[in-house]
Amino acid sequence: MSQRISIHGQWSSRLLFILAASGSVVGLGNLWKFPYITGENGGGAFVLVYLLCLALVGIPVMMAEVLIGRRGRQSPVFSWQFVAAEAGASSAWKLAGWAGMLAGLVILSYYSVIAGWTLAYLVRMVSGSLMLVTAEGASSIFTQLVLDPERLLAWHTIFMVMTIKVVSRGVTKGLEQAARILMPLLLFMLVVLVVYAWRQGDFSQAYAFMFNSDFSKLTPNAVLTALGHAFFTLSVGMGAMMVYGAYLPKGISIAKTSILVGLLDTVVGLLAGLAIFSVVFAHDLPAGDGPGLIFQTLPIAFGQMPGGSFFGTLFFLLLVFAAWTSAIALVEPMVSWWVEKRGVDRIRAAIWTGISAWLLGIVTILSLSSWSFSFSFGGVLKRHGLFDVLDILTSSIILPLGGLAIAMFAGWVMSRDAVVEEFEGRAGIGFKLWYFVIRFITPVAVVLVFLRAIGVV
Ligand code: TRP
Repeated sequence: MSQRISIHGQWSSRLLFILAASGSVVGLGNLWKFPYITGENGGGAFVLVYLLCLALVGIPVMMAEVLIGRRGRQSPVFSWQFVAAEAGASSAWKLAGWAGMLAGLVILSYYSVIAGWTLAYLVRMVSGSLMLVTAEGASSIFTQLVLDPERLLAWHTIFMVMTIKVVSRGVTKGLEQAARILMPLLLFMLVVLVVYAWRQGDFSQAYAFMFNSDFSKLTPNAVLTALGHAFFTLSVGMGAMMVYGAYLPKGISIAKTSILVGLLDTVVGLLAGLAIFSVVFAHDLPAGDGPGLIFQTLPIAFGQMPGGSFFGTLFFLLLVFAAWTSAIALVEPMVSWWVEKRGVDRIRAAIWTGISAWLLGIVTILSLSSWSFSFSFGGVLKRHGLFDVLDILTSSIILPLGGLAIAMFAGWVMSRDAVVEEFEGRAGIGFKLWYFVIRFITPVAVVLVFLRAIGVV
């Protein structure tokens, strides 16, 4: 049974799995979302809770998710079906696969729109049109872009085509190849930018903002946001890691690779936050302005700094690469499912997935301009537009629930022997610790955070 391999192929090596999985986890979540939600939620205490969520929930769930995928060897829906049957459990578990696949489609739809913003800014940076822009200028450029559905649609389309192109080439020639080229470049650019921000920006204030915890600012909602973001940034809870696990050859340690990828993601997020806030504070710009944070503030800062146009270009290129390798991973669960279910070829499956997400993305685009509205979430946050609804629905609700299902399944439903087998048969102290966390800590933490957010406890 354990000799089965996926019909979609396998990762060529441990390193390529690590690169591809890092490509999936490191994305707009680290470079765009983490800074803006940290800004909105007051910094320090939020970051600490987020780190706790990564360690006690996100990374343990990642291991469980990869494990289920490698055992099932198929797209998430069918892997769930397989492992549930093997464990003699209800086939209803595959609903988690369905929910995840649909969440992936929704995330992809708005992810591609935001990635479109980054493409638009990349072009502006290259052309030099953002040099010496003022604060008003930068915010009006951003507003004009976001309120221009045609332009957003064009960038959204370009990004989706880039993504589908890679996915349609398959695991080895597409997913691996993209990771092999883009990830080293991305890490290199990140280091250059951090050094630049450290020398040119206000690093100490950024550090203080991110690490001095003031728990009085921490609302129950912020805790849910931190938990949701731990899932989002690690790409867990919706099956993307499961399908990457399905392509993982036997004999490669799930624990070590997951921890490595999780740590890399954490470090990238923290470094990106430090770099971005250094620049923001050096120019006395607001930190809590929401999704526009990096788009409205960084051009001003880059525009005034020595070498800013070069480093600004580098920054937006970094965003594009990061978004691209993540979007590829967002498409994969549905493409693999389509291929397995309908027997269609990968190219067709990729195109159909792309078209579905593209159409849904149009809703996000329109909601940014003509369909915007306000609503309150948990009575605390007032946010605007359907984009936020989709974001909250996926990151704060579906991903944590998916993660809960994964933890419960690996911890309580799957036989311990099967789990140990996926740990290369070694049930040492590391395994015991993880097994305890996934059985007790993770589920309790997710449930508590939910109950707290809806005001029950
Ligand atoms: N982790 C990605 C980021 O930080 C976003 C993401 C969430 C994702 N779920 C995913 C990417 C699933 C790939 C697959 O930007």
